[in-house]
Amino acid sequence: MTEVPHPRRVFSGIQPTGGLHLGNYLGAVKRFAELQAIDAEPIYCVVDLHAITAGWAGRTQMAEDTREIAAAYLACGIDPERSILFNQSQVPVHAQLGWIFSCVARLGWMNRMTQFKDKAGKNAEKASLGLYAYPALQAADILAYHATHVPVGEDQRQHLELSRDIAIKFNNDFDAPGFFPVPEPIIEGVATRIMSLRDGSKKMSKSDPSDMSRINLTDDADTIAKKIRKAKTDPEPLSETLDGLADRPEALNLVTIYAAFSGQTPAQVMVEHGGQPFSAFKPALADLAVAKMDGIADAMRRYQSDPAEIDRILSKGADRAAELAEPVLKQTYEIVGFIPRG
Ligand code: AMP
Ligand code: TRP
Repeated sequence: MTEVPHPRRVFSGIQPTGGLHLGNYLGAVKRFAELQAIDAEPIYCVVDLHAITAGWAGRTQMAEDTREIAAAYLACGIDPERSILFNQSQVPVHAQLGWIFSCVARLGWMNRMTQFKDKAGKNAEKASLGLYAYPALQAADILAYHATHVPVGEDQRQHLELSRDIAIKFNNDFDAPGFFPVPEPIIEGVATRIMSLRDGSKKMSKSDPSDMSRINLTDDADTIAKKIRKAKTDPEPLSETLDGLADRPEALNLVTIYAAFSGQTPAQVMVEHGGQPFSAFKPALADLAVAKMDGIADAMRRYQSDPAEIDRILSKGADRAAELAEPVLKQTYEIVGFIPRG
């Protein structure tokens, strides 16, 4: 087989395990929407198969959570005419290719995954096999489309590294040089790791028990302003320059959020706001956040009030996704030597 370079193709996914927060928005979805101006037909998936690796929310909740993420994608500007938007379980290729990749990935690789360790907690014996295999399925999500670029937040760097290793090892072990592209993470911009508003050493996360630790996409203007006003900070005013924030993670996080919303670098934000007390900086940040998030919560509610329309969009996206993924699976099976049904 001769190696041909793979054309650029963007893929990313989000788990339907509860509502999205500002970290997901600034670190992922906002950038997914922006890529539509650069990339033809990026693929954005609601990864429902992944969502059951660490527990089941219940039948109704599962479907609701999936529609909520779809609504969030749409409300944040993902346009189903320009992107492929669908939920993973509608395209069986993900699970089929995921199996093959489970046979490519090594136990030693999986054992290094920090997300598994975090999610499995102290009693890893009780974690599901699916949680362990999660990164192999993630590799399948990406490689089923021969995707070359994957926009994600910093916390996904290790999983992306594993996807790269899987692509390389498959191509090598199954004597198919260049068949799968080696995908590149796109971890760019200032907001690749937004921290909790209550603890600057922890990332903002859906699983944090304190709702005050995060700004949800569904929060109204008053709630957003209140959460910023109450965000943990130290008593000192902002330093004059960015260097002065090196050991002040909570302050740095607020400056980072400001920068992400205003399209500036954190250093530029400091030119304008350096030296200010938080009693001045927090209201400025709250105004900016409210202005920039204006309309997202309402748009989400509008989409969610019409679940049938969301389902139509997802099905249409899944049809297109299957069109792309099925030939890749067929070729993969041929490479492995599986005899097809005649
Ligand atoms: P998840 O909600 O874990 O499925 O994550 C969805 C996307 O949001 C992934 O690309 C994550 O890397 C990104 N993400 C999650 N939390 C944060 C955060 N605190 N800061 C920046 N990006 C994040
Ligand atoms: N593991 C990712 C997360 O927790 C979600 C995900 C699943 C994903 N499959 C993917 C991200 C493929 C990018 C590409 O955020």
